[in-house]
Amino acid sequence: MNINTCCFTDRIALTRENRILPAACSMITANMNALTAYLPQLHIVEREYYDGLKSERRKQSYLLGRVAAKNALAAIAPENKPDSVFIGFGVFHFPVVKGLKTPNLQVSISHTGNIGVALAFEEEHPMGIDMEKVDDDHIDAIRDHISEQERALISACGIALSIGCTIVWSMKEAVSKVLRTGMTADFIVLEIDSLQRNGMFYEGTFKYLKQYKAVVIYVNEHACAVALPKKTQFPLLNFFNAFSAVTQKI
Ligand SMILES: CC(C)(COP(=O)(O)OP(=O)(O)OC[C@H]1O[C@@H](n2cnc3c(N)ncnc32)[C@H](O)[C@@H]1OP(=O)(O)O)[C@@H](O)C(=O)NCCC(=O)NCCS
Repeated sequence: MNINTCCFTDRIALTRENRILPAACSMITANMNALTAYLPQLHIVEREYYDGLKSERRKQSYLLGRVAAKNALAAIAPENKPDSVFIGFGVFHFPVVKGLKTPNLQVSISHTGNIGVALAFEEEHPMGIDMEKVDDDHIDAIRDHISEQERALISACGIALSIGCTIVWSMKEAVSKVLRTGMTADFIVLEIDSLQRNGMFYEGTFKYLKQYKAVVIYVNEHACAVALPKKTQFPLLNFFNAFSAVTQKI
């Protein structure tokens, strides 16, 4: 382990009306050099994929995502050795977990720069995660996909449009991962119809995906959004605090 590496994993209980489901969130921040220490955690098929990657940047994002996801899985199902778990790709590039002794667990992954985040959850309870850094070059493109109503919601939160666009975009990407379409879904389907601010935390709901909500932390020019079923109560505070601490150092 390198001192430039920071890992955080939290097992959480998702509380529904009649039941509690296990889940976990995980974050790693590491440069490429430090990440190579995690190569033995890759499954043989993952290692083949990694070795075939040409771009160093993609090698890093792949490792950040896989290590975060395996740490999250280990928090719920510690009986699985990381290198026996294979996180492959579905037809729309979504992650698919295979090789677990514990069936029916899935993950959602996001990475930016030196940070990787992941959620592990039971298939019964779909979730998605996304992380965005405010990027002036990206804002113009995002702004084109923000509706008038969403602009009004951003304005009512008392935040700059660039920050609001980043927050709303991360909510949409997180829920698009739940749908497993990614942002190839028509943007109308992903529209936000409520957005509340509580300090650096935001919570929003979707106009058409009424079963879901998204919670977001926006801190140090980074947004991290988790999309999950609307009626679920969950303790994400530790994870969001760790996210705040990590982004402060960037
Ligand atoms: C999928 C998408 C939402 C990812 O968002 P992003 O901000 O670009 O990147 P993030 O770091 O947040 O997320 C990347 C992770 O999302 C996951 N992902 C990719 N496609 C996904 C999908 N359709 N559904 C759910 N998760 C998906 C992957 O785990 C990926 O990490 P990995 O490739 O290391 O496994 C976005 O890139 C998108 O919609 N792209 C359009 C569709 C596309 O180009 N798909 C890829 C080729 S088929």
